[in-house]
Amino acid sequence: MANVKKILFVASEALPFASTGGLGDVIGSLPLALKRLQKESLDIRVIIPLYKTLEPKYREQMIKICETTIALSWRNQYAAVYMIEREGVKFYFIDNEHYFNRRFLYGSFDDGERFAFFCKAVVELLPKIDFIPDILHAHDWQSALTVIYLKGQYANRGEYRNIKTVFTIHNIEYQGVYGFDILGDIFDLTENDRQTVDYNGAINLMKGAIVSCDMLTTVSPTYANEILRQSFSAGLHNVLDLFKGKIRGIINGIDMDYYNPKTDSELFNNYDPKLVSMKKQNKIQLQKMLGLPEDPDIPMIAMITRLASHKGVDLISHAADELLSNNIQFVLLGTGDFHYEAFFTQLKEHYPSKVSILLMFNRDMSKKIYAASDIFLMPSQSEPCGLSQMIASRYGTVPVVRSVGGLHDTIHEGINGFSFNEYESSDMMAAVYRALEKFKNKVVWNEFVKDVMNTDFSWDKSAKEYLSLYDEVT
Ligand code: GLC
Repeated sequence: MANVKKILFVASEALPFASTGGLGDVIGSLPLALKRLQKESLDIRVIIPLYKTLEPKYREQMIKICETTIALSWRNQYAAVYMIEREGVKFYFIDNEHYFNRRFLYGSFDDGERFAFFCKAVVELLPKIDFIPDILHAHDWQSALTVIYLKGQYANRGEYRNIKTVFTIHNIEYQGVYGFDILGDIFDLTENDRQTVDYNGAINLMKGAIVSCDMLTTVSPTYANEILRQSFSAGLHNVLDLFKGKIRGIINGIDMDYYNPKTDSELFNNYDPKLVSMKKQNKIQLQKMLGLPEDPDIPMIAMITRLASHKGVDLISHAADELLSNNIQFVLLGTGDFHYEAFFTQLKEHYPSKVSILLMFNRDMSKKIYAASDIFLMPSQSEPCGLSQMIASRYGTVPVVRSVGGLHDTIHEGINGFSFNEYESSDMMAAVYRALEKFKNKVVWNEFVKDVMNTDFSWDKSAKEYLSLYDEVT
């Protein structure tokens, strides 16, 4: 068909197939939103690794597309491609058991090699899957090498010549940093690529993609400005500043069907903005499940987060005793740094009838908590976009956030939540008190919850911004 724009998303995760966090949500939902907007004129596909963790029900749906070997430096590695189509979007999976048949997506000693193989395979397989995209849109460091290869070694190779690239930073904290001794051996790069990936004397794959891509995006407008500053850039502000002309900030949306309290089968009780009062059944059931006193009038404050310092966990530990001196319940779901896990385990021991700590990540449980709680706390030190505040809103749980990054762009004090500016526990507590004060008046609170639930966090607007970005690039 003439005038069909071809776009390939390259990423290390995509819901519902494989996901550890927000990246998976975005890669699983943005392509579908783009396709819905332009059914005829957009051919959008996604490619991720085939992990051991993929559920059998999806394995059964997969069609095998091809099987080959991929050269990564001196290695010749097996690679097969499988495919599942969802709502007109083809999702490809690269199979190699040596690299991806592991219990966890990340955290292996050879992650550099695993994702180098993935990127090399993506680039090499394009002719085999018969899809030479107009735009290759890569996400985060695990996919950065695709951009580096295309603008380096493949730049003058026939069918690759016209491929434009977009690189999106979801998480600048993880950059893919390695020593130069493995430049050729693991990353299959040459001396010609050295300057591209060199940052402070080491290989930095994210930096390589920043330099190489045609357009660079991050997941909120505020964060796009913040990362030019040292305090937010995890060391990359100098190079970002050089390329700031090609940086755009586009806020993420959420999948409004997947996150829908009216239909979500994980909830104890379904509800919608017209039936906000039904929400409290979810609270009572969760209180029962967690062994907390069953009382819908006690405000329940929730956090669902990675336990990492940039998520603002230190503010919670500083303010925990003050917070718990109020008549509230505090529920936390998440895993992360050992010392935070230890802190919250102790907190639970001190306040057994007020605190519930679930040191795990489980999507079904997260939905029960979103539905049951009254207030959702997100005191992040930095936040590229943040999806939890939007999901919480969708379930009528009022966000209390630090006004930073995507939180600044999505939550507005008194309109659809509460926010504070300084990274201080006293500022956070003041915002919590404003929320608790409003909670006291049921009629006022329920009206507010209705407004919060009606905030539009769908992909519609942002998907259009991506479409204009793609027009700009090609
Ligand atoms: C990362 C960021 C988060 C963002 C998500 C999806 O997980 O930390 O803020 O919402 O990516 O873009």
